[in-house]
Amino acid sequence: PVIYVVTPTYARPHQRAELTRLSQTLLLIPSLHWILVEDSAERSKSVADLLAQSGLHYTHLNVQTPPVMKLKDSDPNWLKPRGVEQRNEALRWLKLNKSPKDFGVVYFADDDNTYSVRIFQEMRYTQKVSVWPVGLVGGLRYEGPRVEKGHVIGFHTAWKPHRPFPIDMAGFAVSLSLLLSHPEARFDPNAERGFLESSLLGQLVSIGDLEPRAHNCTKVWVWHTRTEKPKLKQEEILEKQGRGSDLNIQV
Ligand code: UGA
Ligand code: MN
Repeated sequence: PVIYVVTPTYARPHQRAELTRLSQTLLLIPSLHWILVEDSAERSKSVADLLAQSGLHYTHLNVQTPPVMKLKDSDPNWLKPRGVEQRNEALRWLKLNKSPKDFGVVYFADDDNTYSVRIFQEMRYTQKVSVWPVGLVGGLRYEGPRVEKGHVIGFHTAWKPHRPFPIDMAGFAVSLSLLLSHPEARFDPNAERGFLESSLLGQLVSIGDLEPRAHNCTKVWVWHTRTEKPKLKQEEILEKQGRGSDLNIQV
């Protein structure tokens, strides 16, 4: 099976740093196709160049989050769901371009997390939905499924434990055939905070269908890391002096 990695991404000073780190992790994985979806009105040259030089199999898409749904710079990051239209665009692309005879698995990999190669080995053979713990998320050291006799019987979670699937985006993968057999399944852009993952999974499976991976969910091989916003105060100062950074240099 091919692993289809779906990554929403948006322009910001450290975007190329995030995408470089992620792309070089993905290079270590055989039989992988990266679907990178920009949150923008047009595909950018910066991202196109990075993809062309990545050495990966990839598809470059774009769709802009509607302005009413978009975070302002001053908003706290949790105010609105992020990457929703972009992931849904990738689901549309898969439906249009893949058929049930294309064996595959789909993983929603945000551009700022940290991924071990081992998590990709765990997800490759997924019947419906495979699951595993995610480190540094939900206010805990890790959140993850609780497993007994090879079955998911609940979740180790503290934040909004009433979520139907209290699983971070990085904590599951879906078989391509399951998605293609539910061609209308999408992430809900209006989902309550924390309910985005549940909004898709609820259309596809029940808890009893989940396939525990990573040694019965006892290993953490993906981390919900977040990158500190770079401070670029000196840029404005130099610009005013007419000797700002060379904008032809891609950063
Ligand atoms: C958490 C989850 O890990 C995300 O998968 C989930 O989408 C998000 O909450 C949510 O509730 O919407 P968090 O680290 O807070 O993630 O979110 P970000 O990493 O800031 O964004 C998730 C993805 O969307 C990233 O790949 C990011 O590049 C992309 N994004 C973010 C956009 O495409 N557009 C934006 O305006 C912001
Ligand atoms: Mn993130």
